[in-house]
Amino acid sequence: MKEMTLHVDAGGGYDILISPGLLDEAGKRIRAALPMAKRLFVVTDSNVSPLYGARLVASLEIESFEVHTHVLPAGETSKSAENLMALWEWMTAHGVTRTDAVAALGGGVVGDLAGFAASTVLRGVGLVQIPTTLLSQVDSSVGGKTAIDLPAGKNLAGSFYQPSLVLMDPDTLATLPLPVFMAGMAEVVKYGCIRDADFFDFLAARPSREALMADIGRILYTCCDIKRQVVNADERDTGLRMILNFGHTLGHAYELAGNYVEWSHGQAVAAGMVTAARLGVELGVTAPGVPEKIESVLASLGLPTRIDCGFSYIEKALGLDKKGAGDKVTLILLEKLGVVRPLKLPRAEVLDVLAKMEGR
Ligand code: GLY
Repeated sequence: MKEMTLHVDAGGGYDILISPGLLDEAGKRIRAALPMAKRLFVVTDSNVSPLYGARLVASLEIESFEVHTHVLPAGETSKSAENLMALWEWMTAHGVTRTDAVAALGGGVVGDLAGFAASTVLRGVGLVQIPTTLLSQVDSSVGGKTAIDLPAGKNLAGSFYQPSLVLMDPDTLATLPLPVFMAGMAEVVKYGCIRDADFFDFLAARPSREALMADIGRILYTCCDIKRQVVNADERDTGLRMILNFGHTLGHAYELAGNYVEWSHGQAVAAGMVTAARLGVELGVTAPGVPEKIESVLASLGLPTRIDCGFSYIEKALGLDKKGAGDKVTLILLEKLGVVRPLKLPRAEVLDVLAKMEGR
């Protein structure tokens, strides 16, 4: 695979670089993007550090960066206010200045927390995202959303803060456990659903990890290309960007019902997309047959397509969802594969249809 570059205009403008082996060139690429940086604050986790930490640090030291590394316990609970404070204190103890930078090496948890720390310490230092999971490569590392979780819910405090560079080395996907890889595929399938029917068909013809990895360059490029177009048009998530939430409202209900343990985000989104497509058919927006096609692709990847949860979780997700405004809710529906249609409807009407669909 030859190296691919995508440029995002949002923020100060930045490149997404995609290439196998890029991890070993991180120092050179970061030096080019952030010529003034002296200190590099690497934030990673206990899964990723033993796999890729030393290679990243070695490549940074070749470029004479002063490197400091902070290893978080792997897992969602690390996205906490306590850890944010710990990162602030760690960076200030090492004399961070405005021209220094944070490098987030890992998945979405590391990227979100490190990104928030970078956006707030000294009112903002440089940020380089080095995502190592499929989910973070196709979604969370691009677009500048940073966050921590609060006791009241996930991602409730955060900022929009675009990185200076995103480095994607597809070779890092080789060490992902299969369910984690496939959870990332749920978001990949989402891009096909909302924007690119040919891409959806391309994915449908690759029902195994091996087949997908053989074309991983095209997969990463296509997803990041769609995401950057959406982010360029609506960086602050006040309009178009909501289409990226296809399957997510119902997905949140399933995640919540499983206490964030039973179902991963990707698994919940997979089932959420199928329910959203079925809902679209019921409402006369989505062409018949679309839910079955989505279901078939997701099932071939070993992802759940139906999750039975108490109706109160669906009510809660629709009521509290951040897309909600007053007594109406904006649904992200499909007209057909590749064509998305946001639709604002009374919440009560949506709940009625969902209740009927679930036979309640
Ligand atoms: N993950 C959805 C977004 O970045 O807007």
